[in-house]
Amino acid sequence: MNAVEVIVKKKAGKKLSEEELKYMIEGFTSEGIPDYQMSAFLMAVCLKGLDEEETVAFTRIMKNSGDIADLSAIKGRKIDKHSTGGVGDKTTLILSPIAASCGVPIAKMSGRGLGFTGGTIDKLEAIPGFRTSIEEADFYRLVNENGISVIGQTAHIAPADKKIYALRDVTGTVDNLSLITSSIMSKKLASGADGIVLDVKCGKGAFMKSEEDAVRLAELMVKIGRADGKAMKALITDMNQPLGLAVGNSLEVREAIDVLKGRGPEDITEISVKLAGHMIHMGGKAESADEGIAMAEEALNSGAALEKFKEFAAGQGGDDRIVDDFSLLPLSGKTYELKADSSGFVEDLDAMMIGEASGLTGAGRQTKEDVIDHGAGILLVKKIGDRVEKGDVLCTIYSSDEDKLERAATVASHAYLIGSREVSPPELIRSVIE
Ligand code: URA
Repeated sequence: MNAVEVIVKKKAGKKLSEEELKYMIEGFTSEGIPDYQMSAFLMAVCLKGLDEEETVAFTRIMKNSGDIADLSAIKGRKIDKHSTGGVGDKTTLILSPIAASCGVPIAKMSGRGLGFTGGTIDKLEAIPGFRTSIEEADFYRLVNENGISVIGQTAHIAPADKKIYALRDVTGTVDNLSLITSSIMSKKLASGADGIVLDVKCGKGAFMKSEEDAVRLAELMVKIGRADGKAMKALITDMNQPLGLAVGNSLEVREAIDVLKGRGPEDITEISVKLAGHMIHMGGKAESADEGIAMAEEALNSGAALEKFKEFAAGQGGDDRIVDDFSLLPLSGKTYELKADSSGFVEDLDAMMIGEASGLTGAGRQTKEDVIDHGAGILLVKKIGDRVEKGDVLCTIYSSDEDKLERAATVASHAYLIGSREVSPPELIRSVIE
């Protein structure tokens, strides 16, 4: 077998055997197959697709490329959440302390930004001192003591995905149903939780643009998870416009804290509470998802979730004073206010363009080696359905670099469509796949 043969076979749209997939994935992970051949292979997969059997095999090979975490040292039923990636999606920062404060142990491994979407680990690293890489024993200890710990995907969990994920990010090979399924599920199945709530995004700022594709993705992931013995549920949620108002790492941490204080934007609050409610139910702490949602609301209202966030941040070395003093969080010094050039209503706010603009500020990576500017990003002022007058500020853009600021502003200006039609914001939660 050789890599060129396998690439050419997939390019011709032919089905690959488990051995052929293994050859490519294991070869790339052990550095026998170079980036350029793996890139061509991934592009062939994007263009020709993998069928269900190939996707299941792809997932299994990536899952078995490293360790399978044994969370048995952690007491209780561990429930995880995974989003397929969005813009302004800081739900992990909110729902994890909510669910933990309701007694569900959160032992979570999260990822970094991918393409135009943000990643939880980059966001957490915006908190001064916060360590996303800690010893395994400390991870277990924190979950047993505080009920919560969130760390970066360790090198031992699905290392094949880690390497392939980084390559996909910079080769335009992210938005494929099978690659997303196998990437998410290989990590999730290897990271040891008893149950997983999936947040499958659809719309302009999601990898799955149509609701139909998002449902297909969700159904496949639920099926693969169940076959591996996990409790699974998926929510199909909107990602046409960004979630909340903040996009960019430190800005999103601020907004997450605002939500935990009960004063955050409605959409991000609603989705975090709903996802947490399903986790609380799956974790056996509520009789139904509705009861779980009510418990999640109470955890927000009582301040218990905010207290849990503080414990969580401090437990991993983070400065928990940020909760009361946002000036301790990084914020890039150069700003640009994007203003409306006409009056009317925001008819559209393209989440992908905002995600791209945010990436250009320095909040995301353009290449694998890029270092994130944690204080950069975009703070939206107007969203879909809002009335605007000519000259109103639509959003404020933050960067440490004047050129980046300018490039980001150009892209962000194309994200807004101001028209005369009064439109409603898109429906946030589309369906639940049980
Ligand atoms: N999130 C992942 O973990 N992998 C993907 O491929 C897309 C989103």
